[in-house]
Amino acid sequence: MMDPALERLCDALPDYSGRLLLVADEHLDSKLLLSLKTIENLSLLTNRYDVYQAAMDSNLSCQYNDMDLRQLGGRFDLIAYRVSKEKAIVHHIINQVPEHLNANGRFLLCGYKNEGIKTYISKAEHYLGSKAEVSKGERQLKLAELSCQTLGEALDDRNYLATVSIGERRNLELFSKPGQFGWNKIDKGSELLIDAFAEHVQQTQAPGSVLDLGCGYGYLGIMAWALGAKQVVATDNNAAAIQSCQDNFTRHGINGEVIADDCAAGIHHQYDVVLCNPPFHKGFDTERDLTEKFIRSARHHLKNDGVAFVVVNQFIAVETIAPAYFKSVENLHRDKSFKVFKLSS
Ligand SMILES: C[S@@+](CC[C@H](N)C(=O)[O-])C[C@H]1O[C@@H](n2cnc3c(N)ncnc32)[C@H](O)[C@@H]1O
Repeated sequence: MMDPALERLCDALPDYSGRLLLVADEHLDSKLLLSLKTIENLSLLTNRYDVYQAAMDSNLSCQYNDMDLRQLGGRFDLIAYRVSKEKAIVHHIINQVPEHLNANGRFLLCGYKNEGIKTYISKAEHYLGSKAEVSKGERQLKLAELSCQTLGEALDDRNYLATVSIGERRNLELFSKPGQFGWNKIDKGSELLIDAFAEHVQQTQAPGSVLDLGCGYGYLGIMAWALGAKQVVATDNNAAAIQSCQDNFTRHGINGEVIADDCAAGIHHQYDVVLCNPPFHKGFDTERDLTEKFIRSARHHLKNDGVAFVVVNQFIAVETIAPAYFKSVENLHRDKSFKVFKLSS
């Protein structure tokens, strides 16, 4: 779905010359990407693997990493950014602007009032030491142009690049970092999924291989390892998730791999067990199709006698989506927030 704020930002890009950088997360869709093809000297930086793939398919210059501008090399005449959902990322990106902007360079910051754009603009003004020129749009959209003058105090990015301990489960310490879904907590739904999986392991045996689909910092995969899985492969679209999950795998010596991918599309193996707590929205919109994409992928990556465990928010209709892919759809748990399913063929 097209994001009008990002569209507005992209419309402004041809007004600038020199080396241009667009910092983009999940809001950038393939239609908008195509419109960028005609802009000269434009580079993209994204923390989403699907956006990176789509950009490469459109022959755009693009880097995929955890929003680290240092890896791009050199300075830019324009850095353009449509604010992300998470404050720590927005602050992290604004903090990097002075180091990567040329002397007469410009910084464009765009977003809606309910996303806190007014506060972000004011914080950027203080940090960059310049007054923003602000233009307005529908739904209280603001697009600000700033330059870099006398630097003030950097914004609190919650030590964005650091991976920190967030607790312990089943005798394994868990590490995570900002820049991903619920980064500093253990998701309640995921805990319920692991309870159900632990019961399954008790009744049968620990699986040989497990795929953690949409792994985040790797909670499900790490718990599968703690419960005796022999090999765990974890995959996610988000670069911050991949970085922290890899960190956990290395620290705990987990036999397996952490792979950046869009819903495991490039992974061509089948596993004994797939564990999945799928995202239920992309950008600011809820998308039912997203659940189906993950259930389809779970089926595709499961051995014929394999079992998938999926947890969703109670309003997501797995009961109606899953039967197209699985013969058996068993609801193992239901409360006012979550439903846990066991799916098999
Ligand atoms: C609800 S979170 C679950 C995270 C983790 N498995 C847990 O249990 O805490 C959903 C995860 O799906 C990831 N995700 C979203 N879109 C994706 C895609 N297209 N391909 C792979 N992962 C995706 C998100 O980055 C996020 O880490």
